[in-house]
Amino acid sequence: MVAPLNVGIAGLGTVGSEVVRLIEQQGRILSARTGRDIRVVGVTARSKAKKRGIDLRGISWARDPLELANDARIDCFVELMGGAGEPALSAIEAALKSGKSVVTANKALIAKHGLRLAKLAELHGGALNFEAAVGAAIPVIKTLREGLAGTSVQRVYGILNGTCNYILTRMEQERLSFAECLKDAQRLGYAEANPSFDVDGHDTAQKLAILASLAFGTEIAEKAVYVEGISSIAPEDLRAAEELGYRVKLLGVAVKTAKGIEQRVHPTMVPKSSSIAQVMGVTNAVTIDGEGIAPITLVGPGAGGAATASAVVADIADVARGIRAKPFGRPVAQLRATSKAPMERHEGGYYIRLMARDLAGTAATIATRLAEQKISIESIVQRHANGVDTAALNGKSSPVPVILITYATSEDAVYRALQAVQRDKVISGRPQVIRIEKN
Ligand code: HSE
Repeated sequence: MVAPLNVGIAGLGTVGSEVVRLIEQQGRILSARTGRDIRVVGVTARSKAKKRGIDLRGISWARDPLELANDARIDCFVELMGGAGEPALSAIEAALKSGKSVVTANKALIAKHGLRLAKLAELHGGALNFEAAVGAAIPVIKTLREGLAGTSVQRVYGILNGTCNYILTRMEQERLSFAECLKDAQRLGYAEANPSFDVDGHDTAQKLAILASLAFGTEIAEKAVYVEGISSIAPEDLRAAEELGYRVKLLGVAVKTAKGIEQRVHPTMVPKSSSIAQVMGVTNAVTIDGEGIAPITLVGPGAGGAATASAVVADIADVARGIRAKPFGRPVAQLRATSKAPMERHEGGYYIRLMARDLAGTAATIATRLAEQKISIESIVQRHANGVDTAALNGKSSPVPVILITYATSEDAVYRALQAVQRDKVISGRPQVIRIEKN
């Protein structure tokens, strides 16, 4: 008879409580699948008195995460407190140094300290599993690390933040304001404690940094990710995208290019017919382009207690099975250093929305400036506000939106052309520029 796997859980919030419940509920199946019983023997959380709706009888309480991590009865330390630093970091280090395995859902901590922790895991023989850190229930880490171990990945991209996708979906479908949608995302428990972390793209950047390391064998480097959030997206961009056959999503994209690996997070126009464009609400999706195979898209719940607990328990099951995968797919010493790819050298199609002077020659001036930079226009739309020709009515021009879609070009060409257009004084305000990602 194999000894049970003894688990200690630090953090009993929504996810921690759900993990305790799931281990209890799935006990027989887990033991059949792993060949061992899995038992929660110790926990720790800020409040012992809080009502959690779970049965903690027979489970001992540790004073703090460090005490739990050092508890000699425990084989697997599960960190579900969150936060990129203390007390999670020291507790995980202590657990790994004593040869225990660690399971965590903490993307911020893995993004910042993942390499150091992976080295400790290698040195002391424990596992360091973090499937829940990216896309919650979607098994994307396993897919990259194990399922595609024999495939050369060219690009991995996706919707990695439920809050942003929820906001963009509701803004598009219900014509609601950004603020209203954000409030609902917070109420439903999708958003981070500080929602700017979601809407400014940093949550996506941390998840992308983890995926890029696994996909390309590079050192995890959050600083190498270019980041732009969704707060500049206006309802008119969502409407224009719809009319032009696109949808706006906050994407994290990591791609091999001739100039190195580009890692970027920004609002992106994706063709309405693409798999990623169909992903609505809090749902996450990741597409992986591998050499010689058609793209693989994984879609599923990327946030919430049950979805996150599902991945955490799967990671615990791997520990029970005795699997000690290299946390980033290969020994830390074999991961290559990576640097930030300069965005001005990024190449792709662009959506540009300008508020232009409604006078003869304006569109020609804009087209000329783009042509000077060798930018080819796929489509150009000029609209009068509410379909009214303001110049004819007032005898003077009010700015009207001009929307352009370009063929593939470089980002510095786009910015040079727009600077020239601004110098020509045919537009007012700042141009809106959104990158296009083709499937
Ligand atoms: N705030 C995150 C999201 C939670 O909205 O996706 C999961 O990491």
